Order: sequence, then structure tokens, then C-alpha cells
Amino acid sequence: MHRLCSLSDLTPGEGLRVDSVAPPVAVFLAEDGTVHAIDDTCTHQDASLAEGWLEDGAVECPLHESRFCLRSGVPDGGPARGAVRVHRAEVVDGEVLVELSTAAPCLPPGVVSA
Ligand code: FES
Repeated sequence: MHRLCSLSDLTPGEGLRVDSVAPPVAVFLAEDGTVHAIDDTCTHQDASLAEGWLEDGAVECPLHESRFCLRSGVPDGGPARGAVRVHRAEVVDGEVLVELSTAAPCLPPGVVSA
């Protein structure tokens, strides 16, 4: 498990980009109190999903509005090119821990995982 941040670093309804893992992960504290972690980079172009709009269990990309489900990573449609990875997240003693997906990330053209 990787520690991404503290629960107190998160704001309900907003995302936080974490660069300590590659590719970066976006962590969200949903309005229902659940914590979610997905790859931060949109699968269409190099946009940070942590800066997107969170609503009804999905985050809308800030550039072209594809909406990614926080539980499956699947977008509702184009121009996203595929699903983002979902990482299993849990909160232990106020710290957000994730088990990073071992699947290959779906990154947009021109973006490489460090
Ligand atoms: S960059 Fe996300 S939908 Fe275009």
C-alpha cells in the first residue's frame, strides 16, 4: 500500500493530484464521504482530472468534459480514448492508502509514465 496523503488534505467534492507516484494519481473525497483514487491524467489529452468537476460519483475532465466513473474508471463517452485505472483506496488512522493497479495505464498520446 502507498500512502498518498492525509484525509485532512482532502476537500469534499474536490480532487487532489498526487505526484509521488507515476503516473500521478487523483484522489477524491466524494460528498458521501468515500475516498477514491484514479489515474490523474485524462486518456484524451494531458489534463489533470483532479481539477475536474465531481458529481454523482464521476469526475468531468476540465478540458473536454468526458466524465469518468470513480468506481470503474470508464468514461461516459468521447473524446476520452479509454478508461483510467482505478486504485483501491482506504483510510487508516486518517491517512489515505492505495493499492496501485498493476494494469497498464491508458495515457494520452505524448504522455509517458516516468
Ligand atoms: S483532455 Fe480530457 S476529454 Fe479532452
